[in-house]
Amino acid sequence: MSDTLTPVLTADWGTAESWKLSVYEASGGYGAMKKALAMAPDDIITAVKDSGLRGRGGAGFPTGMKWSFIPQDNPKPKYLVVNADESEPGTCKDIPLMMATPHTLVEGVIISSFAIRANTAFIYIRGEVLHVVRRVQAAVTEAYAAGHLGKDIHGSGYDLDVVVHAGAGAYICGEETALLEGLEGRRGQPRLRPPFPAVAGLYASPTVINNVESIASVPSIIGNGAEWFASMGTEKSKGFGIFSLSGHVANPGQYEAPLGITLRKLIELAGGIRAGHEMKFWTPGGSSTPLLTPEHLDIPLDFEGVGAAGSMLGTRALQIFDETTCVVRAVLRWTEFYKHESCGKCTPCREGTWWLTQTLTRLEKGDFDVAEGPEVLDLLVDQCENILGRSFCALGDGATSPITSSIQYFREEYLAHLEHGGCPFDPLASTAFETEGATA
Ligand SMILES: Cc1cc2nc3c(=O)[nH]c(=O)nc-3n(C[C@H](O)[C@H](O)[C@H](O)COP(=O)(O)O)c2cc1C
Ligand code: SF4
Repeated sequence: MSDTLTPVLTADWGTAESWKLSVYEASGGYGAMKKALAMAPDDIITAVKDSGLRGRGGAGFPTGMKWSFIPQDNPKPKYLVVNADESEPGTCKDIPLMMATPHTLVEGVIISSFAIRANTAFIYIRGEVLHVVRRVQAAVTEAYAAGHLGKDIHGSGYDLDVVVHAGAGAYICGEETALLEGLEGRRGQPRLRPPFPAVAGLYASPTVINNVESIASVPSIIGNGAEWFASMGTEKSKGFGIFSLSGHVANPGQYEAPLGITLRKLIELAGGIRAGHEMKFWTPGGSSTPLLTPEHLDIPLDFEGVGAAGSMLGTRALQIFDETTCVVRAVLRWTEFYKHESCGKCTPCREGTWWLTQTLTRLEKGDFDVAEGPEVLDLLVDQCENILGRSFCALGDGATSPITSSIQYFREEYLAHLEHGGCPFDPLASTAFETEGATA
């Protein structure tokens, strides 16, 4: 499509029956696994370290370093757990990957498990997406039948079993320690750290937890070499990633490109903002990452560039909103999500997200006295400050991001809600609201 794009994970998404083992192998699939099984496990860890791969699940922790934390002198079994919960609003890369080319993930699981000396790996998939669970399970079954999984894989002496686990469907189960609780059969709530999962994770054993895209990137690193991967991206954010464009662009979808690409370039590739409209705000990595505006169109979309702009790269879930969207309404919708998904373990998040929705709903409905003026915004910020940094896990912090960032950039629009006695966006007066696909 463009020299700018670097299709690796997405290269075969358009191929007929790309999810089948025969199709995957016809394009070189499982070649990296064979190469890896002939390597020393530590050399695989070194290669992943040298590649500069950083976790694609949001936080960007160096993957090879995470693997090296597994204490190999610990006699307990080691586990690999793939985080395929993907529930962050706007994030939609792991599910298409697992649907289109599940064997990329399975091959990545084999190589990664071999590297950390795990003989059992789990793929934890969000329970609601049953079609994905079936697709990945079918791929695992095919891999067993081909001898890529099970006992003494291809005569290497290495054994690996893979369990596909369907979660019960809770956003918090994407948080890695809540995920482990869920996998052990308990209610999904985060665990206190330390101990970290690398030391005492699943069943109190050393455990690596990685995102789907992180693990699916491993075969290409082993197959093409760490230098090849590191030749893409920026100084501290190496390689490529799937950028998911959704919302008010002409051609929403997945665009795989080197880290450091700009949103301006991605929107150009996506055919621009939908005809007759202009961009108002966007999220760089899902709704938990502070929203940005058109003035940030040229920042490099890597961990450092987005951080310097006051947000986070997160999962590269680029949700684009044009001028027809009421920012207060959009933020209220996200806040309702966080309130619903708060696991209830800690008071600041459990009570705080409830209060946030109350305040935002009143603002949206015009349920404040105009005389209260900016004090209402002070109240919202105060509520956020009582959640941020005081919650047990990052869900609480993330819930405040859209609110504080939208007040930072759209204070006037919040005040207009007070002055207007509710949302000033009139669906009947605005042609934009009559347009199909408007999200407000
Ligand atoms: C509320 C919450 C939800 C999360 N959801 C996901 C998720 O769906 N998928 C994911 O890979 N990471 C998710 N994470 C991040 C994980 O805790 C963890 O950092 C990640 O799986 C590590 O993998 P990586 O190093 O490969 O990025 C979530 C974190 C929080 C706080
Ligand atoms: S911050 Fe929210 S989701 Fe996290 S432990 Fe506290 S109540 Fe649960």
